[in-house]
Amino acid sequence: MSAKEVPGDKYDSVVDLAKRRGFFWPSYEIYGGVAGFYDLGPLGTALKINIVNLWREYFVLKHQDIVTEIETPVIAPEVVLRASGHLDHFTDPIIECLNCGRKYRADHLIEENTGLKVEGYGVEELDRIVKERGLRCPQCGGLLGDVRTFNLLFKTTIGPYSSDVGYLRPEAAQGIFSAFRRVFISMREKLPLGIAQIGRVARNEISPRQGMVRLREFTIMEVEFFHDPEGDDPPWDRFSGKLRVLPAELRQRGGEKPIEIDVIEAIEEGVIKNRWLGYWMCVARDFVRELGIDYGDMFFEEKMPYERAHYSAQTFDQLVRVSRWGWIEVSGHAYRTDYDLRKHMEFSGEDMKVFKPFKEPKVVEVEKVVVDKAVLGRVLGPSLTSFLEVLKNVSVDDVKKALESSGETIAISGFRIPRSAVRIMKELEKVSGTKIVPHVAEPSFGAERLVLVVLDKAYSEEENRVVLKIPKKIAPVKVAIFPLLEREELVRVARKIYADLTALRLTVLYDESGSIGRRYARADEIGVPYAVTVDYQTLTDSTVTIRDRDTRQQIRVSVRDLYEKLLELLDLKLRVS
Ligand code: GLY
Repeated sequence: MSAKEVPGDKYDSVVDLAKRRGFFWPSYEIYGGVAGFYDLGPLGTALKINIVNLWREYFVLKHQDIVTEIETPVIAPEVVLRASGHLDHFTDPIIECLNCGRKYRADHLIEENTGLKVEGYGVEELDRIVKERGLRCPQCGGLLGDVRTFNLLFKTTIGPYSSDVGYLRPEAAQGIFSAFRRVFISMREKLPLGIAQIGRVARNEISPRQGMVRLREFTIMEVEFFHDPEGDDPPWDRFSGKLRVLPAELRQRGGEKPIEIDVIEAIEEGVIKNRWLGYWMCVARDFVRELGIDYGDMFFEEKMPYERAHYSAQTFDQLVRVSRWGWIEVSGHAYRTDYDLRKHMEFSGEDMKVFKPFKEPKVVEVEKVVVDKAVLGRVLGPSLTSFLEVLKNVSVDDVKKALESSGETIAISGFRIPRSAVRIMKELEKVSGTKIVPHVAEPSFGAERLVLVVLDKAYSEEENRVVLKIPKKIAPVKVAIFPLLEREELVRVARKIYADLTALRLTVLYDESGSIGRRYARADEIGVPYAVTVDYQTLTDSTVTIRDRDTRQQIRVSVRDLYEKLLELLDLKLRVS
């Protein structure tokens, strides 16, 4: 039986199933719910854990020579987000009805009422359109006020003093940048270095719609990949190949269809501006493929400069096609350059530069400040020692500037000294490296959105039954165990198999009530890949049947071989190649 294409109402069926069987539902439902907040139920939580672990497998474990994982707080003091630019730039345009007081996201209000595409337009531009078009409140028809910016950070206080302002982090990245130096030292001071973090973030969206697609609080999975843009190539033998990409320049010319291009060619032609950005896009492509999304149902859309976050020199969103919403973003890939580390150096006063060794030591001409201590001693007397101490922190350029002034004496850091006592000398010196601020390529995913995407892709209806064809590797329950009938002799064996498989750390479901057909259907509906049935033959020859969720074919195996066989079918067997 081939799967029926479920038409436009598929999303409603997915949401209905999600609530009924415990994948997800709106939070605080008993109080009417709050937009942008969703609970994950028992199966949703298990599915999310499996998705997160698969992400970890791709982005951390397969790269453990160059990526490590950390955990930093959800709350950040104000200075961190001032330094990062989020206090100034992490905003959406908002407009308020002067009559009823309702507030709307201004760009959405314009798009819905005029059909114009205005994402990324500035506040003045949006305000001009609202006024020119005479737009009114969609609810009460009242006059609208001016378009303003609304900061999306959730604000709180840290401790009892209202002056100690903190914010819920909008991305895990800022905890990583703040901790960069410590992680770099503990990882033996080598570039490239990826620092991954998985954790909760919060964004105070103005009016989130689209259910689980747009959340005010969610789990982010991101890697800040610190590297020297002139450093070694990414390990193309691990991930490379073709990417489906829609470049900004093509979008500008009205193009809507992505091009297929080899990642290395895309980098050489300047379509992708940073090698590591392209590399992590390949990893993202294969990770999302393993969640059950065909390559043809995903592509990378380059953001226009006005659509990009303030820290990014180039961004690609990875889009996948889902039933209700069409193309939605599942990950963002930003070339953050050295923007964040430079900002944190400026605001914290800490040096985050790293030593970049040259391949061969170089002999270079260096300028040095030389002083005549005898002359200075006569002029400064006992202050000579303090002057020499201060001079250590004065740059050659500052001394040169002082020497450019006229007169017999010059001023250096508050000391007035004879011009003749200081000179700049050139010397040849062997240097083994230089200091650089690392650049960053960032892949970033939202975990709950992936839960929705997986369910949307997996949902199918066959002969009026729902089958959730979740890829086996991430299925929340791997095996169902059924006694054919609720008879003591069968139940006893089935329960023993259940206990044994549970002890071997498989996620197993035991069900003895209702007809065997109904039990298969209940397991199919939550995506259990294999159902094991204990029947009367089991009592004579110690064999059981294993039924495949997708083909509904059954095989018989001996109970002794069951665990090994299930591992093989589930593709969970460890293989060393
Ligand atoms: N760090 C990625 C983001 O904020 O979307």
